[in-house]
Amino acid sequence: MKKLITALFVASVSLIAMAQGNNYVQDYTKYEGLALTPPMGWNSWNKFACNVDENMIKQMADAMVSSGMRDAGYTYINIDDCWHGDRDAQGFIHPDAKRFPSGMKALADYVHSKGLKLGIYSDAGSQTCGGRPGSRGYEFQDAQQYAAWGIDYLKYDWCNTEGLKAEGAYKTIAAALKKAGRPIVLSICEWGNDKPWEWGPAVGHLWRSTGDIYNCFDCVKDHGTWKAWGVMQILDKQEGLRKYAGPGHWNDPDMLEVGNGALTVNEDRAHFTMWAMLAAPLIAGNDLRSMSKETTEVLTNKNVIAVSQDKLGIEGFKVSAKDGLEIWAKPLQGGDWAVVFLNRGTTAQKVDFDWLKNEIKDDIFNLQTSFAANTYTLKNLWDKKDKGTATTKKAFKAEVPAHDVVALRLTLTKKK
Ligand code: GLA
Repeated sequence: MKKLITALFVASVSLIAMAQGNNYVQDYTKYEGLALTPPMGWNSWNKFACNVDENMIKQMADAMVSSGMRDAGYTYINIDDCWHGDRDAQGFIHPDAKRFPSGMKALADYVHSKGLKLGIYSDAGSQTCGGRPGSRGYEFQDAQQYAAWGIDYLKYDWCNTEGLKAEGAYKTIAAALKKAGRPIVLSICEWGNDKPWEWGPAVGHLWRSTGDIYNCFDCVKDHGTWKAWGVMQILDKQEGLRKYAGPGHWNDPDMLEVGNGALTVNEDRAHFTMWAMLAAPLIAGNDLRSMSKETTEVLTNKNVIAVSQDKLGIEGFKVSAKDGLEIWAKPLQGGDWAVVFLNRGTTAQKVDFDWLKNEIKDDIFNLQTSFAANTYTLKNLWDKKDKGTATTKKAFKAEVPAHDVVALRLTLTKKK
């Protein structure tokens, strides 16, 4: 009898709990179906740091359209650090009223009206890296607020997070975004400290694999307590990470410095091509309102973007390296391949590449070329005078300028 009474008591308590909504199961996983190819867009940080305001963001959206970038595949206009104002009495965050007087909802509406999406930035800690209010303790309120504003992308940083564990902190914001119910891309930005590639795929759509990029081709900037990395240094730090990436979950070697003035056009071209080979997010970081013709041409190169956005979503890899000349390959849909000759040196280098003696093998994704049996046509991804007729039956000869690439698409035309 006593047992029966206990059982009845337990059952009625759980019924009451369910009636009160306590049967909600927290979902700590990301919103599925987003970023199936590496995200493309623009972010304010690399060029403008804390100087963000609504007029500039609107102009950037306009420029993304007028420059042809939107039509080339760029979608996200992302506001980085320092948009924040204060929290209100209930703890809800508001934008800085001087910089964003019309509010975030109006800005999102504007960006959406251009056929683009709006991204925002926060931090898992008490304060952002720029000293603005962080989301620690306000995760669910912030996610509700972003969803109500119509935000589509959240970059979530890792400053001032003493005592937090990265995986748990990012799961918390993932759960908050899930609960808010809007499809928002989650960009994990903890600089690769806690191996985000191991737990990130279930939690977010991309994760920074390194510290911040520095606007140089081949250098390290020592800030004392932390270092920022040139394009080549970041490239080297991707070693071993490609097996973790794929559709909906990408390694993020940080935003582009293309068009920001420190790199030559050759270096911009190499930087952009290698980010495409890495299946990295292509997030421009320059002033889109005043780009040179060369910068626009780099950022909107459709051949290279097609390599980045290939539906297979396989990150490229280094095939060989000799005297500063590296050969990289990326498997593409339909048996195609991208092959890039990257010259890291300061003088031009000649390439004489005999395909038949150099079959390419991707051991991780179990794919390989068959130059002996198949026919591939070659297309130079940058050369406007596309020769188009070469096949892999002949050795490939080219000269790669210093700090530049020769990039090819091998299209499988005949398969044995
Ligand atoms: C960190 C991030 C950068 C940028 C700044 C903003 O350094 O890694 O990408 O968002 O914070 O303060």
